[in-house]
Amino acid sequence: MGYQIDSSPKLGYSFVASTSLLLPEEIQQNLETNIIGKRILYYPEVVSTQDTAERLARNGAEEGTVVISETQARGRGRKGRVWISPAGGGLYLSIILRPSLVPSQIVQIPLIAGVAITKAIMHITNLQPKIKWPNDIFIAGKKVAGILAEMNCEVDRVNYVVLGMGINVNTPGTLLADTTGGIGTSLEDQRHEAVSRLDFVRDLFREFEIVYMEFLTSGFNEIREEWKKLDGTIGSQVTVTEGREIIKGKALDIDEEGFLLVSQENGNIKRIINGDVSLQH
Ligand code: BTN
Repeated sequence: MGYQIDSSPKLGYSFVASTSLLLPEEIQQNLETNIIGKRILYYPEVVSTQDTAERLARNGAEEGTVVISETQARGRGRKGRVWISPAGGGLYLSIILRPSLVPSQIVQIPLIAGVAITKAIMHITNLQPKIKWPNDIFIAGKKVAGILAEMNCEVDRVNYVVLGMGINVNTPGTLLADTTGGIGTSLEDQRHEAVSRLDFVRDLFREFEIVYMEFLTSGFNEIREEWKKLDGTIGSQVTVTEGREIIKGKALDIDEEGFLLVSQENGNIKRIINGDVSLQH
């Protein structure tokens, strides 16, 4: 299980070093949450933590249940892309949520998750990440984390959300050259020092629980302000690909619902619901 223990024939055993694996018992030590991560299912390998968590959610797993894996055979990114998930340094996890919301409000969940990941990176590494709308986390122009929210709903009611997060913690940047949505990097590459995945994941769960509870009790507005402080999109010239349409202009703001407002050269303001944004520097 990754613990290092020495044995010597006459003296017995001695404990040398703890594990760096993401074992639930380790994560749950000093975990300051009430819901997120109270139940953690750990796997050395899965196809995608999204699939495993979806099955659990369908069978009634409670809110806050986390599926975490050391590697994924077919990690998924947004829009059916692949999320490269090598073993040995990345964090691949999915959180089951059961918010009492209507389906249209779920678009805001990846945005609040972006705030939580960004804050955890700042706390644990002192790096200064920026969010690219809607929820890609970048450091020095390279992507370090991505978020994928999938839901099961009826027309007027959400049954559950599976919120996936992929964070390149100690993954060598060379393995991430063509990460979805940009050139990939890792926290270790940026900081030139390994980062404890256990410390990171504990802080992430705590931060996520805070913003998620704030969102459920007070709505998106407060978190929208926090999102804007961490954002690296607003004010930039952007090219947005939304389906077949390509929109060029200046990113003006995000609205109360979390959609991006882009002012085009012809003076029109376009509301982007589900686009890919690239920034012009
Ligand atoms: C993106 O930027 O396109 C989203 C990437 C989301 C990746 C995470 S890794 C854990 C979870 N399981 C998956 O298959 N995908 C998400």
